[in-house]
Amino acid sequence: MKVKLTVHTQSHDYPIIITSQCDMAVEIAPYIKGKQVMIVTNTTVEKLYLEQLAASLAANFEVHTVVLPDGEQFKTQQYIDCIYDALMDAHCGRDVTLVALGGGVVGDMTGFAAASFMRGVKFIQIPTTLLSQVDSSVGGKTGINHPKGKNMIGAFWQPQMVLADMHTLTTLPQRELSAGMAEVIKYALIMDTQFLTWLEENMTALMTLDKKALAEAVARCCQYKADIVARDERETGSRALLNFGHTFGHVIETHEGYGQWLHGEAVSAGMVQAAKLSQKMGWISEDDVKRISRVLQAAQLPIDPPAIDSQVALDLMQHDKKVMSGQVRLILLKSLGDAVVTADFDQALLEAVLNSP
Ligand code: NAD
Ligand code: GLY
Repeated sequence: MKVKLTVHTQSHDYPIIITSQCDMAVEIAPYIKGKQVMIVTNTTVEKLYLEQLAASLAANFEVHTVVLPDGEQFKTQQYIDCIYDALMDAHCGRDVTLVALGGGVVGDMTGFAAASFMRGVKFIQIPTTLLSQVDSSVGGKTGINHPKGKNMIGAFWQPQMVLADMHTLTTLPQRELSAGMAEVIKYALIMDTQFLTWLEENMTALMTLDKKALAEAVARCCQYKADIVARDERETGSRALLNFGHTFGHVIETHEGYGQWLHGEAVSAGMVQAAKLSQKMGWISEDDVKRISRVLQAAQLPIDPPAIDSQVALDLMQHDKKVMSGQVRLILLKSLGDAVVTADFDQALLEAVLNSP
């Protein structure tokens, strides 16, 4: 199976290729314009997929590699400098193409290095986690963490292409697969109830790594994201809808300490909280909330947040990037498949949700 989608952006249009299994080098070679390639990966993905990609590319290109340590804690300026060092040591010029081989951390970092090295060079995304295939590799948000905040330093820099090979998901730990599935379910909840029904019917196949089902889900999510990015590349409006569940989720991640809850796990419990607030606003029904919880549980995701004092949670929410003039803005569901960004919710209802077990 091979699907090709197109992302339309202000700088250029680019393809997302979704395959069940492929020779990665063959797929990306047409999008490499110069002679030099720098593959950026991490110590985990290196062992799984680097050798074959590098060897295969070496037939036609001058191939260099840089291997970063694995983990969100290394998504920092220090390790961006490692990428610059490798580029300088290899005498890479303006026509070098960076290739991000890994999950969202590697993708965000490689994209940011590409956006800034020599004021901008080309890069390609080969996302190897479900989360990076359906979300972070598409749409050009790149960046690193600052000691005082996650993803605080970055740039919009679109890749030349995205290659999502379902075969890479066969080596992914189950917890990471579930975390990515939270983002898949998110698209259904904010955009498309028919996709929600499809997910309910196909969750067993997805969780047992049926590549046809996975490719179908990834393709649908990438198409939703491509449509949103084409409308609002710089997140002045509707792109914020992609943050459904994320404000509640960030509270969990920050409060519990990064790495305790995976991002997707926190988003899962956060989406249930956002759904409960939407219900209290009279927009969706109790049955809708139960339906959301069921599909998340089918993906082996948590639906209840840890105990967090509501005042502490409200304070943490103030650090959300969507806060405007001190006002928290949340993504809520007007109905299943239809989300809004709003600051117009009852504070007492929000506190009731934060206080509920
Ligand atoms: P990750 O990159 O840390 O990958 C998760 C783990 O899986 C890591 O240990 C990684 O080494 C391992 N891994 C990757 N591919 C593997 C494979 N095929 N087999 C076995 N193990 C594999 O995490 P993630 O969930 O992919 O991405 C999270 C990051 O993405 C965060 O930094 C987040 O801020 C960022 N993000 C960015 C955007 C965006 O629009 N740019 C959107 C969402 C998230
Ligand atoms: N992950 C949210 C976005 O790309 O806008």
